[in-house]
Amino acid sequence: MCGIVGIVSNRPVRARLVEGLIRLEYRGYDSAGIAVVNGQGIVRRRAPGKILNLQSVLDDAPIDGTCGIAHTRWATHGRPNTENAHPHQTGNVAIVHNGIIENFKPLREELARSGHIFATQTDSEVIAHLIQYHLDKDMDEESAFLASVDRLEGAYAVAALVGDANQTLYAARHGSPLVVGFGDGEMFIGSDAFALAPFTKRVLYLEEGDSAVVKIDAVCVRDNTGKPVERQIQMASISAAMAEKGNYSHFMEKEIHEQPEALARTMAAYIDPQSEMPLLAESAPLLENADRLVAIACGTAYLAASVAKYWFESLAGVHVETDIASEFRYRTPALPENGTALFISQSGETADTLAAMRYCKRAGLNTIGVLNAPESSIARETTAVMRTLAGPEIGVASTKAFTAQLAVLAISAIGTAQLRKKLNAVEAQRHIKAFEHLPELVRQAIATKEQCRTIAPTLAKAKQVFFIGRGVYYPLALEGALKLKEITYLPAEGYAAGELKHGPIALIEEGTPVIVIAPSDPLMEKTISNVEEMAARGAKIIAITDEAGAPQFEARAEHTIVLPDMPGLTGPIVAAIPLQLLAYYTALELGTNLDQPRNLAKSVTVE
Ligand code: G6P
Repeated sequence: MCGIVGIVSNRPVRARLVEGLIRLEYRGYDSAGIAVVNGQGIVRRRAPGKILNLQSVLDDAPIDGTCGIAHTRWATHGRPNTENAHPHQTGNVAIVHNGIIENFKPLREELARSGHIFATQTDSEVIAHLIQYHLDKDMDEESAFLASVDRLEGAYAVAALVGDANQTLYAARHGSPLVVGFGDGEMFIGSDAFALAPFTKRVLYLEEGDSAVVKIDAVCVRDNTGKPVERQIQMASISAAMAEKGNYSHFMEKEIHEQPEALARTMAAYIDPQSEMPLLAESAPLLENADRLVAIACGTAYLAASVAKYWFESLAGVHVETDIASEFRYRTPALPENGTALFISQSGETADTLAAMRYCKRAGLNTIGVLNAPESSIARETTAVMRTLAGPEIGVASTKAFTAQLAVLAISAIGTAQLRKKLNAVEAQRHIKAFEHLPELVRQAIATKEQCRTIAPTLAKAKQVFFIGRGVYYPLALEGALKLKEITYLPAEGYAAGELKHGPIALIEEGTPVIVIAPSDPLMEKTISNVEEMAARGAKIIAITDEAGAPQFEARAEHTIVLPDMPGLTGPIVAAIPLQLLAYYTALELGTNLDQPRNLAKSVTVE
């Protein structure tokens, strides 16, 4: 989604604004721009497409100054062309915006009546005109900015340059994150601490409703009532080096390979090394005593929730309802009086998940965030946080965050089962012991990459691809299909293996690839019957199984990816790896932009 960077300094800022934008590329965008205050007032440059295009515009017509704002835009209102790219400017005001201004139409009509002429189809442009309108009423810069922000409804993070020679950044946050960075003789604002990592690690997170006036050596933050407030300066947990690709071609490839360490780190936080028992800390009472659990998320995180439902229900005997965040709060859900809601999110900023979390809080539920970003909005508002320690995930298609979410949820399910006396200590310990070798099992799964690479050309040529599984491997089949769709743009569908004959089987043609996830478990035989049904209709079977299951597929599958035996609840975590690798190598084969697939955003901060 849209990214914001701002710098006020005693030296030129253009190059670093562009550097900050490059670090925001991972969020997903389709145009970019910058504006600076120079001797002649506020000047800007914008371009559709990648930042490279903006750089060549800047090379052809250079601008620089010591105070500036920059933006990557993910189009919502209006096509991704130069005209609609941010910064939006009118007179002595330039703004950048992330989010959606819901009341932009009435505001635009009102401003048009007083003579303002709009140049774009965006909702954001209205902010620049509102500020100019207030300046024209003889308000000072800060009052004009605050009065304008006051009129906005919807979600926003805004940064503005106000006045043609003013070395000040104005910023406000309502629904979309914004941080202020403290440098040496300069100050920054950014959509996240990651964008500012090369410049500073000392950051302050604006809270909901905050506004900030940022000068070269000071920041004044006001809360939503306009009262000056102190917000704590923190050391951001991300370093610039953590976000380099190293020897890998893509962030996704690097992140796939980081999974053994990411899982080891995550598990270490949730397993007591002495007793080998789950450590659920502040989440324990919320899981032990809830009448029902509600697990809410979007995208891949929702599929982690869907796997967890099987674990919590079968081990802990607790009813779990899973919901897609964007559906949940609009369907008047019947919520338990004594319930706990889990919000699973890599970024902790997904607008729908955040809104669903607030909905649950208002309804009186306890809330737990299973989150990768510790400083995120959801982390700050939930009753308890269970962190996934996957490290920064930059590739748009989630990999290591997903498997880390599964690890946390699996250990939580075991812990909950023990707390609810559905497992005794010995049984719980046996389940936990199964995780001992998980990093090594994942390493072995990554070693199937050469085989996945040889399967990729078949998938790349396919008209469509099916993924099937039963039990915990059903949501995993959905994840396999989602991964493939996201980065290859191939039509791909995931189905419960037993459901295929109720419709989707009609789509099977001679040579249609069907990827079957079926390690040896009590359901494997049933899945094999479904495989027979597919094969009888010409499907090309690609099996993902374990050593014990492999013989079953010898005569049935064109390719069999053999994973090591996966004890206890580790299966879906290990089996996720070849799904990631198949998507990765198929995308390589097709030459798509793997880390920044078209139209997608890493952190979706609009509804
Ligand atoms: C976007 C990303 C997905 C991610 C989803 C939820 O769609 O492209 O990879 O699964 O958002 O994001 P979250 O940060 O809440 O896990």
